[in-house]
Amino acid sequence: MQFSEACERNKGPILAVLERWLPRPARVLEVGSGTGQHAVHFTQQLHQVCWQPTDLHANLPALQERISGDGQAHLAEGSQLLDATALDVSVGPWPDGPVDAVFSANTAHIMPARSVPDLVAGAARVLRPVGLLLLYGPFSEGGAHTAESNEAFDTYLRGINPAMGIRDAHWIHELAAAQQLEPVADVVMPANNRTLIFRRAS
Ligand SMILES: C[S@@+](CC[C@H](N)C(=O)[O-])C[C@H]1O[C@@H](n2cnc3c(N)ncnc32)[C@H](O)[C@@H]1O
Repeated sequence: MQFSEACERNKGPILAVLERWLPRPARVLEVGSGTGQHAVHFTQQLHQVCWQPTDLHANLPALQERISGDGQAHLAEGSQLLDATALDVSVGPWPDGPVDAVFSANTAHIMPARSVPDLVAGAARVLRPVGLLLLYGPFSEGGAHTAESNEAFDTYLRGINPAMGIRDAHWIHELAAAQQLEPVADVVMPANNRTLIFRRAS
């Protein structure tokens, strides 16, 4: 089974953000679930959430292995972890909404830059009024990196593929504003990460 050390480190701090912000019951769509460790942890810890993990088609077998294995044990009261479905934010089709929240961790800097507007627009389409978009990861601020480690990571990513790279929080805010998503929080997270939270207009 695929395993991410980073997920193990950040799942606790992200859980605290979700506990604070998610309504209950909540239907949550996760974009780019990766190994599925977040989906499993959050549905074991958060009551009354129905969590839909997704990822690119090629990554589904590895993701589904965790969802149908560990993922169905020790679910929190009233919570469900659904089978993984394929979603490329630029290709779709997006799962049917409405959902109470769209959550995505460490995806904006991995997907091509041209897909980031599709992530934000797709989330806005499936969110119910006042639903939340939560984006976790490293973001730059006004064109400047907020830490040397983020700058080095950005250089590394762009060296692998120029379409990848740390995105600027101002740009994410512009994309969100264009979709009637208003900023409600910018949570400072460990290791120079942030969780940007937007709410769909009512
Ligand atoms: C660094 S991994 C993060 C995985 C997981 N969310 C985590 O925090 O460990 C980035 C994920 O984004 C997914 N991804 C890349 N491009 C995507 C796209 N266009 N649409 C949806 N997901 C995408 C990748 O397949 C991968 O699972």
